[in-house]
Amino acid sequence: MRKKKFRVRRSYDETAEMYDRRYISIQNKKYLDIIKHFKIPSNEPILDVGAGTGLFSKFLEKQNQVISCDISFNMLKEGIKNNGLIFTIVCDSDALPIRRDSISIITCFSVIQNVPEPLNTINQFNLILKEGGKVILTALAKLFSLEKLHELTDNYCKVIDSWKLPIEDNAIVFHKPKKEKNSDNAIKD
Ligand SMILES: C[S@@+](CC[C@H](N)C(=O)[O-])C[C@H]1O[C@@H](n2cnc3c(N)ncnc32)[C@H](O)[C@@H]1O
Repeated sequence: MRKKKFRVRRSYDETAEMYDRRYISIQNKKYLDIIKHFKIPSNEPILDVGAGTGLFSKFLEKQNQVISCDISFNMLKEGIKNNGLIFTIVCDSDALPIRRDSISIITCFSVIQNVPEPLNTINQFNLILKEGGKVILTALAKLFSLEKLHELTDNYCKVIDSWKLPIEDNAIVFHKPKKEKNSDNAIKD
């Protein structure tokens, strides 16, 4: 597992400089479709996991403050240089250095197909999300069918929406359900 992550990190580190030139128009098509389906509340901080060079942050045009996490140092470095990233963390999506129950919105675009144990990442999201917090996730459709995305998230979270993007990826939006108060507490309250 470590070997696969090491390979992924090295490959993005080595190609970071050309990422935007190669992928900006493809990624922008995905983002456009995502914000059509799901209205991202402005002024809400976003944790972008596997943010790469921060193309999504740039796309939002300062509507939201974005904290960008990525396993590749060079991808984030390019993002700081070219796309105005401010808050960056070099880390693995399976071990996010973020306080529990603290995040309202997580985005994770075109990342999960690179992660050897995607369930570990989903579990991390579940830990750091506030109750009611939402995740918008996309993954390569040829590796992650909509059914597979549902299977990944069903045990942890409640799916709000899922659909096929116009290019490459499938998308899913899910949230961490609010804990139900049991009837005893309800009477005490
Ligand atoms: C295809 S790029 C997508 C980048 C960005 N989300 C976008 O929309 O342009 C995949 C990114 O996931 C990052 N990544 C891969 N495995 C990761 C992991 N285990 N933890 C954090 N980031 C990871 C890579 O370094 C790379 O920047």
